[in-house]
Amino acid sequence: MGKLPILLLSIALVLTEAGPRFDCYPEPNGATQQACEARGCVWSQDNSGKNAPWCYFKDGVGYNLDSQSGSTYNLRKNNGPGNPWGGDFTEIKLTTKTIGNVLNVKVGVDGRYEPPVDFPRSSIPSSDSLTLETSSGNDFFSFGVVRQSSNRKLFDTSIGGLIFSDKFIQIATYLPSENMYGWGENTHQSLRHDFTKYLTWAMLARDQPPNSGSLDTMNLYGVHPYYIVVEPDGKAHGVLIVNSNAQEVTTAPGPSLIYRTIGGNLDMYFFPGPSPEEVTRQYLAFVGKPFLPAYWALGYQLSRYGYKGLAEMKTRIQAVRDAGIPIDIGVADIDYMQRYKDFTTGDDWSGFSDYMKDMHSWGMKLILIFDPAIEATYPSFQRAISANAKFIEWENKDQVQQDIQNLYPMAKDTKIMLGVVWPDNHVAFPDFLDSTNNTQNWWIQEFVNYQSQVPFDGIWIDMNEPSNFGTNQNHPWYFDSDDHPNDAPLFCPTNGSSAWEMPPYKTHAVWRFGDASSSAFLASNTLCMVGLQDAGNQRFYNVKNIYGLTESVHTQKALFKSTGKRGAVVSRSTFPSSGRYAGHWLGDNTARWEDLRTSVIGAQEFNLFGIPYVGSDVCGFIGTTNEELCLRWQQMGAFHSFFRNHNTIGAPAQDPAIWPSVAAATKQANLFRYQYLPYLFSLHFLASMNGGTVIRPVFFEFPTDEETFDLGYEFLWGSQILVAPVVYQGATSVDVYLPTDRWYSLFDWQYGSIVPPGYATVSAPTTSRIPVFVRGMSIIPRQTPSTTTTATRLNPFELLIAPCEMGRGKGSLYWDDGETIVNDFDSHDYHQFDFKYNTTDSGATLAITHSRKSSKISLPTLDIIEIFNYPKPPNFRSFTINGQPVNINVQKSTYSGITKTLYISTPGLIDLTYADSIALRWNNAGSAPGADGAKLKALESNRYDFEA
Ligand code: NOJ
Repeated sequence: MGKLPILLLSIALVLTEAGPRFDCYPEPNGATQQACEARGCVWSQDNSGKNAPWCYFKDGVGYNLDSQSGSTYNLRKNNGPGNPWGGDFTEIKLTTKTIGNVLNVKVGVDGRYEPPVDFPRSSIPSSDSLTLETSSGNDFFSFGVVRQSSNRKLFDTSIGGLIFSDKFIQIATYLPSENMYGWGENTHQSLRHDFTKYLTWAMLARDQPPNSGSLDTMNLYGVHPYYIVVEPDGKAHGVLIVNSNAQEVTTAPGPSLIYRTIGGNLDMYFFPGPSPEEVTRQYLAFVGKPFLPAYWALGYQLSRYGYKGLAEMKTRIQAVRDAGIPIDIGVADIDYMQRYKDFTTGDDWSGFSDYMKDMHSWGMKLILIFDPAIEATYPSFQRAISANAKFIEWENKDQVQQDIQNLYPMAKDTKIMLGVVWPDNHVAFPDFLDSTNNTQNWWIQEFVNYQSQVPFDGIWIDMNEPSNFGTNQNHPWYFDSDDHPNDAPLFCPTNGSSAWEMPPYKTHAVWRFGDASSSAFLASNTLCMVGLQDAGNQRFYNVKNIYGLTESVHTQKALFKSTGKRGAVVSRSTFPSSGRYAGHWLGDNTARWEDLRTSVIGAQEFNLFGIPYVGSDVCGFIGTTNEELCLRWQQMGAFHSFFRNHNTIGAPAQDPAIWPSVAAATKQANLFRYQYLPYLFSLHFLASMNGGTVIRPVFFEFPTDEETFDLGYEFLWGSQILVAPVVYQGATSVDVYLPTDRWYSLFDWQYGSIVPPGYATVSAPTTSRIPVFVRGMSIIPRQTPSTTTTATRLNPFELLIAPCEMGRGKGSLYWDDGETIVNDFDSHDYHQFDFKYNTTDSGATLAITHSRKSSKISLPTLDIIEIFNYPKPPNFRSFTINGQPVNINVQKSTYSGITKTLYISTPGLIDLTYADSIALRWNNAGSAPGADGAKLKALESNRYDFEA
């Protein structure tokens, strides 16, 4: 090819690369050149495969700087194009402030809606800081957020596109790299976002099962306007936009981001990191750290929707127990209720409380489901009305659907917005924003009353987007359901005059499902946007996305008050800060391999969002699972904090006892999990106390290794254990990537040996544990497993020591009674032990520091210490504890020169409360006792400074 064609080709490439394109016709129908130009926008087809909008805004959209006073920038609409979805505000303000090292940039107008969320807004120190830079070039004002240490721009609005009108707000930015993670709740098929094309992700809480079968950008149950970016030098930052309206984000080539919302302000918080884990800790200091689940809540859970009665639940739980599979929790779905009404027990469930007593006597627990919607007919509703509790209301009496309202004497003369969910009659939705607290007090009291009848231990809150069946539909799905009467559906005022139901810009959350002609509304699957809460102070249009959060806040209080213990709440709908009150499951997945894969990614994302008590419906909810899929899902799910097999109504039973192979694999996986629970619990303890993740994407620990940037199907437990589940049908091996470090196999394949870093294909037959690796420099607390956590907690502790190349290791154990409510960690009663290990040619030392003591919480003894890569046979007769000789049981203790694993096992070896500092020392065979005394003494004095 000559020079001219190359030149022409490059020019052509540059032209097609031109961007950005801010979509001016996102509606699903009607985008023509004529309609586009009528909006004052540009029409130009794009066939580059980048999915760029064909109708886009002309250049120059934005604001100019009018004046500046301190950290306030007064902006005035420039002469550039206006927006087609409402008059632009002529004047808006940008204000900036810092909270510690967190930079806040707020663009908006005083007096507009702000989400009524209770964030602690604390900060923790960072070694880095961020500054704001502004510019008035390009005919519009723009700003950048700059990292001090590298001078890199992390956010850069010189891309243009700032729009601020009442119900359409847009901001765009270039990004410093394509390594972006987060935003939700959506089904992401890769952990890292894709910037090769334009993709718009919807964010409006919706009762919407995930679709993992193909790329689908629809909105699921919660909303998380939060992301993390790893910059080219491995530093990371996070950005939160505190906005609760219907919103969306477009990831686009550049890499760039375009964020749009239809209310509130752009209240943005930038977290400087610089490590990904520090970003998470800073984020959680700001929005609130996750609750600490009860210890038992880390046990295995068996659930299903569609038990015919208590007898069936008993049979399935018994089958799992009979198979010797560790299990802690029975879960009852709405079947246990009397025709799906909260706080009632169905006829086929008599004897439920006796069964609970049985379960408790076996060391097991019960989690019950509760939906927010309360049928307008029965005593719970009566008590609410008498207590002056509030429900979501219509704005005025004219809007009330009298034909529905008149059916219910207790609701008749009220403005309560009645909808349809599972119960037979219409339902009302408690107003958890009620500032009189009558609603919250009534809600809590209902749980207290019910707990005295059925002694549940944990609470599962579902349908809290909130979900409403059949909104604006003449023939909703439930009309054809045997299990549901044809209750008249809710109709919202969608005749075009309602600013709330039919705002000019409806977001991808509506358009993904069509438009008004195909019954896609903001109110689809939920209540009318016109609704009011808190005595008319809050509009449902604004606060819908925080319904699940507000329900979680008060349900956690209800759990504490009714049980007196910390238990656990799990919620379907979440928002930033939900993790303080509840965990989450990833919703109504389908029994497919694709869904197993997306759940591995989803659990990592929810850890970024500060909701580490998370997992998926193991074996798949919708559809019929199969033996191999269920087996692999059980094996993977055993590494998620929330670990529950759950199944939909009508689908065949899928508990692990159904297939001998699944039972065997689950038993093996669960015994491993139960053995390692002291480590998993310690990770939760740290995340609750200091903020941070439990399950961690691999790049969190290796942010300069680009091979880790999209390892969605591998994940870490904390910093020390790496899990690589089998996620493909028929696979009997896994292609694993281990970043540069020392790693040891922790599964059947070469257990205990060093596995070199890099890519490897490792064996993973269905009969083996899935690939798990432990990182060098680790000391992992474990416990000999039994079949409940209650029994396991009484068993001896163990330590697994996986030394680094220098022969050192460290780790910690946090231990409390597993159930007391944590009011604050300073006064909470717990033990903390810190472990350090060092070995030399002649012997080894394990130093244990009892850093935090409890006088009340008893502790099993530490009986087993397993050490990988131990260089030489030890002299089992040389062991001392704080200088006193100790007898090692040589029948039970072994050393293998081939695997180089030292296994020390002696009943009652170390009483952990024996002293504040305990040093276990020994010599190797052939080293005369004391021969290396000087070296060991030096070691001991240094033992608190071991670093890799
Ligand atoms: C929807 C939930 O997502 C699902 O887990 C549950 O089984 C059903 N509701 C019935 O309560």
